[in-house]
Order: sequence, then C-alpha cells, then structure tokens
Amino acid sequence: MPCVCVCVCVCVCVCVCVCVCVCVCVCVNPGGCSIGLAIARRLALEGAHVHISSRKQASVDAALQQLAGEGLVNVTGSTCHVGAAEQREALFEAIEDKHGRLDILVSNAAVSPSFGPILETTEAQWEKTFELNVKVAFLLAQRAMPLLQASQGNILFVSSIAGYTPLENLGAYSVSKTALLGLTKALADECGPLGVRVNALAPGIIATKFSRLLYEEEETRNKLLAHVPLKRLGTPEDMAATAAFLCSNDAAYVTGECVVAAGGMHSHL
Ligand SMILES: *[C@@H]1O[C@H](CO)[C@@H](O)[C@H](O)[C@H]1NC(C)=O
Repeated sequence: MPCVCVCVCVCVCVCVCVCVCVCVCVCVNPGGCSIGLAIARRLALEGAHVHISSRKQASVDAALQQLAGEGLVNVTGSTCHVGAAEQREALFEAIEDKHGRLDILVSNAAVSPSFGPILETTEAQWEKTFELNVKVAFLLAQRAMPLLQASQGNILFVSSIAGYTPLENLGAYSVSKTALLGLTKALADECGPLGVRVNALAPGIIATKFSRLLYEEEETRNKLLAHVPLKRLGTPEDMAATAAFLCSNDAAYVTGECVVAAGGMHSHL
C-alpha cells in the first residue's frame, strides 16, 4: 500500500438496523496495506460490514482469510486497481450488489514511486504519484457521493504527516499528501450541506512495509524519532483507532478536518 498498492474497501453494518458499509481503499504497493487492513479490522470489530479491495486477488484472499480467522465474518472483498476507471466502477457495483449501501469510504490507496531528492523526480514518477494519491482519491469520493448522500455517511482520506512537513527523499509523495488536505477541505464545504462529512487522517511514521525505507536503518530511524516526542513509531492499530473515531457518530460534528496521529511530530503547514 500501502501496497495499497492494494485497495481495501470496507463495508460496515451496525446494529439497531443501521447498516454501515465502509469502503477502504488502502494500498497500491504490494505488502503495504497494513494501515488499510487495520482500519478494515477495526471497523469490522465495531460491527461494520466491510468490503475490502486490493489490486491482487491473492492480497484480497489473504486479508479476507486473516479477518475470517479472527471471527470477522462480515467482510467481503474484490480486486480493484483503483487507477482503472472500469475497475473502480466494478468495485462500487460489487459494494451495491453485496451490501446495497455505502456509509463510509476510506480512501487509503497511495504510491510513492520515487525515493530521493525531489529535484530528481521524473515527470512519470510525479504523474503516477499524483494520479494515484490525489486524482484517484477524488474520483473514488465522487463516485461514492450518491451512496454516501443516501446514507448520510462520510469519507476518510488517509493523508500523511508528510503532507505538513515534507519527508526527506519523499518530496513528490509529501506534496501529494498536502494536496489531499486541500481536497478534504474543498469536498467538506460542498458535501456538508448534503449531509456527508469529509475528513482526513495524517499518520506519522508507521511501522509498515510501505515506510520501511524510513526506519529500517538505525541511523535513519533515530533521526526520525528525534522529531517524535512519543519516541516510538506508530502502529497500524493506532491509525485504525483514530480512523474509527472520525468515521463514527462520535465525530458527527467534525468535517473538513485532518487529525494528525503522529506521536507529536509537528504539523504546521
Ligand atoms: C454479521 O452481521 C450480522 C447481520 O448484521 C450480525 O447479526 C452478526 O452479528 C455479524 N457477525 C459478526 C461477527 O460481526
């Protein structure tokens, strides 16, 4: 994700006859879906019916199998390369088909095709970064809106602390995550009157495969942790907890916001 190079779509159903369907689009990079998977698990634990999606069938199957093994049986999934229009359409058709509604869209799919000085980013790398991280996030939200308006649901974009303070060697990725903050605000203004909330979550440095280049080497890790008052990397479960709050009715009066869950890393734009 995030392997996300995988897209995890979650559908949540809450008792009291309220069926919440959550679509979580998580990773585009293989093996990077752990934040999306953690969000899917947490929402399922909260009683949601969750639809997950990933680019590869094997990733979908593995996630479904893992969650089913934990007793989370109300989880469905399908493959979807979120960059492909017809596959996005098929994803939403699958959601409507299996769940008949959508209450929460979690857009977590992201890529970071370049690692190095921003000035060395190629045009192709820049375009891929913005296509997946920004444009596709918008298109998923746009496609989800009629369903979310019907359910008076909400959207959660997964941004990053890098959107506030660019991370070294991840320039294009960082700027794309800044753009997501603007997208959150713009959509919140327009969707609020329609009864749909739009928020973002900005994870700090989370221990996932996706971010391994940032923490695998001790020297790099210590350099990063120097900026983290809580002195540890975040976990996917830390992110899932904040995501669950933003997607829940406890956040009924919160829209257009980004909650930074980064162990205290500074987050001023
Ligand atoms: C699955 O969904 C059904 C229907 O909403 C519900 O009765 C059941 O408790 C759910 N199971 C789990 C494990 O969440």
